[in-house]
Amino acid sequence: MLIRDYRPEDFPQVEALWKETGIYTTERGDTAEIIVRCNQSGGKFMVMEEEPTGFVAGTSWITWDGRRLYLHHFAIRPDLQGKGLGRSLALKSLEFAREKNAPMKLEVHQSNLHAIHLYRSLGFKVFEDYDIYMNLDTGTAFDAH
Ligand SMILES: CC(C)(COP(=O)(O)OP(=O)(O)OC[C@H]1O[C@@H](n2cnc3c(N)ncnc32)[C@H](O)[C@@H]1OP(=O)(O)O)[C@@H](O)C(=O)NCCC(=O)NCCS
Repeated sequence: MLIRDYRPEDFPQVEALWKETGIYTTERGDTAEIIVRCNQSGGKFMVMEEEPTGFVAGTSWITWDGRRLYLHHFAIRPDLQGKGLGRSLALKSLEFAREKNAPMKLEVHQSNLHAIHLYRSLGFKVFEDYDIYMNLDTGTAFDAH
């Protein structure tokens, strides 16, 4: 398996992988344009490529807000899970954080025990006292006042 930077032509396979692994919803609004924008802002989108087929086997989307890195859409194709690929893609992602000398955050559903096991084994710690808040109503957020 090769771990390389995302290329625009990967998007159809990337989107298919997200759908297959249950991490895609239209309300998240994750498009090819947003990937490019995040990379231009100092993030990194890693693709795990199956050799020799060239098919996308995994994705790790790291965004940068100028202060911290955020890991999103971390996934391995279902037929390739449980073989250590997730661990190697996560290690490569953490290598990027070390290079950037920045901490990495992520969100994971409480029921996603495999992912939690992996993240904890790599040194991620849960902030038990915090909940995640998000305002998805981008159109009217400021009209409320
Ligand atoms: C989470 C995910 C990326 C892990 O990738 P993976 O390639 O299957 O993980 P690995 O094979 O590297 O295994 C990593 C650890 O998780 C455990 N694990 C992974 N899949 C497992 C399974 N199906 N059953 C039991 N344990 C599993 C492994 O035992 C391993 O732990 P160990 O090294 O202590 O033995 C993958 O399951 C996935 O894509 N899930 C769907 C998308 C998702 O939920 N992403 C996370 C969003 S936050």
